[in-house]
Amino acid sequence: MTIVREIEEFFGARYESTPRYWWDVPHAYSVSPDDHGASLMAQQVLRHAIARGPGRAIDLGSGEGADAIRLARLGWDVEAVELSAAGARKIRQFAAENGVQVTVHQADIVEFEPEGLFDLVVCNGVLHYVPDKLTVCRKMQRMTRPGGVNAVSLWSDFSPVPAVHQVVPTYPDAEQGVVVSAYADWPKSLLYFERNRPEVGHSDAPPHVHSHIKMIARKV
Ligand SMILES: C[S@@+](CC[C@H](N)C(=O)[O-])C[C@H]1O[C@@H](n2cnc3c(N)ncnc32)[C@H](O)[C@@H]1O
Repeated sequence: MTIVREIEEFFGARYESTPRYWWDVPHAYSVSPDDHGASLMAQQVLRHAIARGPGRAIDLGSGEGADAIRLARLGWDVEAVELSAAGARKIRQFAAENGVQVTVHQADIVEFEPEGLFDLVVCNGVLHYVPDKLTVCRKMQRMTRPGGVNAVSLWSDFSPVPAVHQVVPTYPDAEQGVVVSAYADWPKSLLYFERNRPEVGHSDAPPHVHSHIKMIARKV
């Protein structure tokens, strides 16, 4: 089985197993940054989106669509790309339940080619499932309008991949690795190496920690 197929099956099974896998909390779609203290990236994406005002956004590896739907609730024109069919279906369902429109593509972000340029590209919690991060980083950079930003979060290799996640191939990056190097020339409003943080976004596993690279960078 290919890596992409393994990842698709892994997440598909989780998204099918429960009505809401990620952030099963009442404030999941709140557009108030203060409601997302448990997720630095969700919080910072909202702060940026509110300060800038509506534009065109794309959420790569959108999962069940939390970031995409919050942006759409703020009036952004949003596209979401998600590998798993179950995830793509839930993004459409949750967007409809929230009264917003999100254009959903079921696709591999390595292959996907969007139309036009975006003011905000979000890739939250995805690149540690992608061996060829540089291809995706260059693609995100190409699809960004000058002045637009990329908001990227992925596992760093500061801590080992928890046993509970060692069921599909994963590719954490070094803190000064491929992703940060690819953005060396982009001014950053956020570059944070979050270390050994307890996971709180999903509750189907024993307690474990992750280390992350969290970055918001602007195309000049
Ligand atoms: C940890 S989840 C994060 C979901 C969402 N971004 C969030 O923050 O709630 C990772 C998601 O990335 C998706 N994914 C992984 N590799 C992908 C790829 N090559 N193309 C598209 N989606 C991918 C998975 O299916 C999964 O839904």
